[in-house]
Parts: sequence; structure tokens; C-alpha cells
Amino acid sequence: MQLRNPKLLRSESYFGGIWHSAENNHAFTVNNPATGKGIIDVADLNAIDAEHAIAAAHKAQPAWAALTVKERSKLLRRWFDLIMANQDDLALILTTEQGKPLAEAKGEIAYGASYIEWFAEEAKRVYGDIIAPPNNSQRLFVIKQPIGVVASITPWNFPNAMLARKAAPALAAGCTFVAKPAKETPLSALALAVLAEEAGIPAGVFNIICSSSSPTIGKVMTSSPLVSKLSFTGSTQVGKTLLEQCAGTVKKTSMELGGNAPFIIFNDANLDLAIKGLMTSKFRNAGQTCVCTNRIYVQRDIHDTFVEKLTAAMESLNTGNGTADGVNIGPLITTKAVAKVASLVDEAVANGASVKYVAKVNTNPGDTDTHFYPPTLISGVKNNMQISREEIFGPVAAITIFDTEEEVLAAANDTEFGLASYFYTNDISRVWRFGEALEYGIVGINEGLISNEMAPFGGIKESGFGREGSKYGIEDYMEIKYMCLGGI
Ligand code: SIN
Repeated sequence: MQLRNPKLLRSESYFGGIWHSAENNHAFTVNNPATGKGIIDVADLNAIDAEHAIAAAHKAQPAWAALTVKERSKLLRRWFDLIMANQDDLALILTTEQGKPLAEAKGEIAYGASYIEWFAEEAKRVYGDIIAPPNNSQRLFVIKQPIGVVASITPWNFPNAMLARKAAPALAAGCTFVAKPAKETPLSALALAVLAEEAGIPAGVFNIICSSSSPTIGKVMTSSPLVSKLSFTGSTQVGKTLLEQCAGTVKKTSMELGGNAPFIIFNDANLDLAIKGLMTSKFRNAGQTCVCTNRIYVQRDIHDTFVEKLTAAMESLNTGNGTADGVNIGPLITTKAVAKVASLVDEAVANGASVKYVAKVNTNPGDTDTHFYPPTLISGVKNNMQISREEIFGPVAAITIFDTEEEVLAAANDTEFGLASYFYTNDISRVWRFGEALEYGIVGINEGLISNEMAPFGGIKESGFGREGSKYGIEDYMEIKYMCLGGI
């Protein structure tokens, strides 16, 4: 990997302001999903290391909380500036360990940094309340205080942005932060730690612990009495386990879990706009995001035209190694992920869905052929097929035909998930009626790209709770304290 700033590539973990090997000197290999080859061996921390990291964060918390909001804000801003100054290198690290195309990785660096910039500003906008007292001898007021040490487990699909989106509000609120990045993609997290250190964020405030065992580190995080909150992004299944584990110490939690996003196109929609939105929502990160379109519902009259237009748009997809010129779909993260996508498509086709288009994969010598799944379009999908029930997490567009608004609303809401949803219509009454009736935390209306730092990201039902970004995001990292002053 040719970096302008080679200092960004680290293999040790960072906590208490010091770079650490594992206590037992173990290491694990981080692989490039496009080539299947090892990039670097990273220190493989264990439970004892995790306890040390949490202790360091706990020690640093009072002094960090005691800084003025302006001081914390300035440090966050400096971190943001350094991230943007190193955007190209950070993107290359991200593509090499995660696979997404370089242009998309650059976009993720800016996206992640935008949360740091946003919360550097929001740090200054935390307000309390004065409440009318029940009698004249009292005054009642409410203040907000940092919750304490925040632990976090972050996913491989956005190794930079999901970490930044949690660390930024935590630090802005006056919390210290210990994160365990996914074992597939620890390098982006370590690079962020290099820049946090350079920005002057004090020792113990931002800590990264890498490990090949999420359950080991997760157990320490969820059981430690020094940790006040756990913020997790990942699968609903793992989220449920972590919630159970957090019960023992009654931790506050934020859970950004799985999704099963419907993307609905009504007869009256602007089809070209819908295709544009769908291409973004379906194929971003090769389909590996929690807000990616999972189920496409097309109203019967426009189905054939829509399939024609979508096929034409999919012809522009170029699948290959994310560092190669012109590639806009990278590999999937593991061979297991490829097998899962293939089995969902096979099951749908075996039960009557038809394949409308399969793109080519354009790998180069040195690339593996086991991590790529060709962008595929199928139609005739039914709601009871596995592909409609589970997150595909791959570049497969699966179309279901519908007739009426009532029918498609029932189908769209017929899932335990409730993260993102999308619909396209030009009927202004339907915009409100349908938008309000969708059981989702996020609704894109005539828009396929809904994520940004100014808006509240989060789900309902089994997609979790808590909101990231926006004016609401910092609240998740603060406690409300009510003070009652008597004797007036
Ligand atoms: C995710 O996949 O969890 C996050 C996607 C986003 O931030 O848009």
C-alpha cells in the first residue's frame, strides 16, 4: 500500500495514549478482500487488554468532562481537519481492507468526518431546562451531564464512518470512548487513532482495541462497571446478545441493527429519478449497508419499463478490485457473504423468480475470484421468499410486483425490521399518507440517499433504538439530572 503518510498504517492497538501489542503477543492477519491476501498482522488483544483500555478511559473521563465545551470542540475540529487532510490515504487503507471502490471510500472518509465536524459544533449547543415549581419556595432545573465511559463495537461495512459517528457525539458530550472495530477492518480505526493523537485529544479519551474475538471483548465491555454505555452497530442477532449482557450492569445502550428496506415505485413516479435513487440505494458498498434497498416493489403497469431501465442502468456497473480505475462495485467482505447471497438468489429462482440480468465481473490478475458476486436483477420475487425476509447484503436487485397501495403498505411493513424505507410517487397526498404509515425510522421519498450528519439515523422495531447524527445524536451520550432547590 503506497501511502503519502505511512504513519497511518498501524498494527498495535491504542489506549491510554500509548500504542500496545497484545499482552500475550498474539496477532491476527487483516486480509484484502479483493485479492484474498494478507495486508498486515494486527495485535490480537484479549480480555485483560480490554480491561486495561477501559480503565484508561475511566481515568481520563473526569478531566475530559471538565474541559470547557469550546476546548473539546476545538480538539474535535482539529481531528476533523487532519482527517480531511489525509483523506486519500485513509480511503486507500479503507479500500484495501474493506473492498469498496476508492471513490466511495473517499466519500466515506468525508461522511465520517462530517460527524466529527457536526458534533464539534453541537458540543456548544447542549441545553438544560428551568421548570415551573409546584410551590414558591422551590426552583427546579434540569442539567445534562456526560454519561461516562462509552464502549462501542463497530462494523466492517463502514470502518471509518460508523466509528466516527459514535465517537464524535460521545467526545463532544464529555464522555471517553473505547471501541472495538470489526476484525476484518481494524486498520481504518487505528488510522483514526493516529490522527486523534496528532490532534491533541488527551490520552485515554479515544481508545481502539483490536481483537479477532468480538465475543471476548464484548463480554468485558458489557460486564464492566466502569462502562456506562454501549453503542453497537451490527446484526440484530448480536445486538440482542449484547443487550442481554448489558442487563447485568443496567447500561444505557444504542443499537443500530439490521434492516430490510423496501423501495416502492408507484405508477405515477418519475421513473428516471427512481432508477437513479435505486442505483444508489441498492448498490452503495456493493449492497452491504443496513439501509440498502432489500425489496423492490414495482406497481404492475410500469414493471416492464422499469426492468428495462434498470437493466440499462446496471450495465454501467463495473465490478472488480476497488483500487482499479472505473470500478464502482467491489468485492464482498468474505466468501461466506458471497455464498449467502448466492443461496438467497438460488432459493428465489427455484421458487419461481426469474433472472433478468447478470453483470460481468472484471477482476485482474492477482485478484481472487471467490469474493465477488455479479450485480444481478431478478423479478417475480414473493414476500415469503428468503430474499424478501433477510438482509441480502449484496448487489442483487429483487423485484416484486404489486397492484394497490394497501397491498404494498402491508407487504412493506411485514417485517421485524424498521430501519430505512423508500418510495417514489408524485401524488402529494400519498407522500404524507404513505410516509406516515410506513413503520420505519427513516423514509426516503423520491430520494435514495438519506444518510447525512444533520439528520437522525436510526431504526424502530428490531432495527434497534437511539439516533446518530443530528441535534438528537448527542442526547444519547448524556444523562439528565434534575435539581430541586428549596428554601427560597
Ligand atoms: C450502515 O450500514 O449501518 C450505515 C449506513 C449509512 O450510514 O448510510
